[in-house]
Amino acid sequence: MYLSFVGVRTVVRSAKLRLPVGAPCRGVQRNLSSLPSHYTLPSGDKIPAVALGVWQAGKGEVGEAVKTALKAGYRHIDGAWVYRNEEEVGQALRDSGVPRDQVWLTSKLWNTFHAPEDVEPALDESLQKLGTEYIDLYLIHWPIAFKKGSNNELDPELTANPYPTWQKLEELVDKGKVRNIGVSNFNIPRLRNLTANPLKYKPAVNQVELNYWNPQPELLQWAKENNLLLEAYSPLGSNKQVKETLQLPEVKAIAEALNITPAQVIISWHVQRGTVVLPKSVTPSRVVENFQVVKLPDELFNKLEKAATSHPPQRVLNPSKSWNLPFDVFDDDGGVTVPDEGNNGERSGAQGWRSGATAV
Ligand code: A2P
Repeated sequence: MYLSFVGVRTVVRSAKLRLPVGAPCRGVQRNLSSLPSHYTLPSGDKIPAVALGVWQAGKGEVGEAVKTALKAGYRHIDGAWVYRNEEEVGQALRDSGVPRDQVWLTSKLWNTFHAPEDVEPALDESLQKLGTEYIDLYLIHWPIAFKKGSNNELDPELTANPYPTWQKLEELVDKGKVRNIGVSNFNIPRLRNLTANPLKYKPAVNQVELNYWNPQPELLQWAKENNLLLEAYSPLGSNKQVKETLQLPEVKAIAEALNITPAQVIISWHVQRGTVVLPKSVTPSRVVENFQVVKLPDELFNKLEKAATSHPPQRVLNPSKSWNLPFDVFDDDGGVTVPDEGNNGERSGAQGWRSGATAV
């Protein structure tokens, strides 16, 4: 009997042994061709494919979730300054006894800290809260800059031109405080707008919403062609859509055929698409369940991919209105000057479906 778990290669065996009786991955016979446990970034660093996401994991519960995850074999925690739980995450990591250098930590620069002089102090605060000297991956959380100290007041210049912010991130790499840098919530025009500059380090990842409802096949294709790794947040549809996701007939049918859970079907599908996946849970049994991914047979994978990409996309998250932005953050009408890429200054959004891309 062969199970193919994603995880740090050296811990796969022990993770298997630690599975509680009755754990949701019920151990059907699978072939040995498994999913990648890691992806290699341009720096040469290997980033684990499955992470525990801690957005919306509250104080008093996130620490236990992190400890459960590390015990189950996770070696990747995806956090951010704005989640306001970095202290508890850091404490749980220390309590777990897993050495710091065996765990991949991601954090993100919040929108109010895009001014070049604010970038390093913002990172330092995250480092201090996490209790670590370096972060494996630091992302610009949104392609939106707010004016320093303001209540979500747009800074149009730093939003249209993120290069000054990016140069500070590059400096943090050179100082050894950050190992890899990337972005989050960038669409293709915004990525091209940033990478048209003479970058010392290109974005290694772009963390975006990816799930059954908003699978973004065009962005995924573009990312693969441009050596950019995507990371899937809200991979199950977040708390708003998780129920619907796990009840989809296509997902349930695959779960039954493979004797795995619907959540494992979805999380496996993400890795099979070639993205990092960041399922969030504070429920111990689900944390364990979500780490057990398997390669779906091609036919079933293709069926699910087709179902996901055959309906108009719907985002779970779009803060454009709540931030009073005069444009939609996921469309390209925010004053971005897009460099020509063979089609004369295209100014369209990232998704072919963009007109239907509304907040859920
Ligand atoms: P909880 O944290 O209470 O366990 P996403 O990863 O797309 O952001 O989804 C997170 C939501 O999905 C949370 O409400 C989380 O609940 C729930 N969830 C996470 N894993 C599972 C699972 N395996 N089965 C059912 N619900 C899950």
